[in-house]
Amino acid sequence: ENEFSLRPRRLSEYIGQHKVKETISIFIEAAKKRNEALDHVLLFGPPGLGKTTLATIIANELEVNIKITSGPALERPGDLAAILTNLGEKDVLFIDEIHRLPRIVEEVLYSAMEDFALDIMLGKGPGARSLRLSLPKFTLIGATTRAGLLTSPLRDRFGMVHRLEFYSVEELMLIINRSAALLKTEITPEGSFEIAKRSRGTPRIANRLLKRVRDYAEVRGSGVIDLDNAKAALDLLEIDELGLDPTDRLILKTMIEKYQGGPVGIEAIAASISEEVDTIEDVYEPFLLQIGFIKRTPRGRVVTKLAYDHLGISYNKNEAEPS
Ligand code: ADE
Repeated sequence: ENEFSLRPRRLSEYIGQHKVKETISIFIEAAKKRNEALDHVLLFGPPGLGKTTLATIIANELEVNIKITSGPALERPGDLAAILTNLGEKDVLFIDEIHRLPRIVEEVLYSAMEDFALDIMLGKGPGARSLRLSLPKFTLIGATTRAGLLTSPLRDRFGMVHRLEFYSVEELMLIINRSAALLKTEITPEGSFEIAKRSRGTPRIANRLLKRVRDYAEVRGSGVIDLDNAKAALDLLEIDELGLDPTDRLILKTMIEKYQGGPVGIEAIAASISEEVDTIEDVYEPFLLQIGFIKRTPRGRVVTKLAYDHLGISYNKNEAEPS
């Protein structure tokens, strides 16, 4: 019962992301009718929203094999060449964190995506020759947190670009109820609602919190997840009413206490809390922006009144210099 077993395997089981699902199902059907490989797909959005799950489902629906790798794992052109030359006709290659592909590897990918060809240099200097190997027609599915992180030549080679959105509480409840059934754990609608509410719009977080609440319910209760033990377990984990965790609150409090609520640059925030800039931008900031707790301005990030109210800090911006 690892996380993988909670992942849906077919598009019909995949909850939420209606627009992406509808669009992709049409192109999958068209590709299958023509007996062709599906065009390359770029999926972007915050971590935990189901990009890998969706890639796996696309391969299942196409009835082809999938090879899964990531940008940082492909260090040299040969690493990519080894994978590409082992693909079957119409297979899916999934590259997670595709924005982290080394430039020299990315350049090999261009002709692979466009011409299904691999250009290999033999030798060095005046005697060097290039050799063109043909590859099977394949589908590249790339995943990244922000589409803007890709170079335009790479982005332009995808036939479809889809943004995954945060899930609604109702959608998360469906996911939690499905996962609870797979875990053979009984859960009340109120318990499911409480976990969904605190999952930051993110199925990966919902499934993780579900497992922790299940542990709590088994040790401290009858094993049935209800409102009371969901609340108690999530409070113990310091996940608040809106799903903010200690790091979210530290980011907001640091911006308020050290930088008067901003505007403040992301680098300054990162340095103050000893966190990576990328982690703040990819993991924490998208949800805080989504719920309107921070805003991005040309001069940096600003904490909004909503966040002050949530943290119980009085909002005193009257004396701020005019801008
Ligand atoms: N598990 C993770 N993401 C899911 C989704 N979108 N639908 C169903 N189960 C999921």
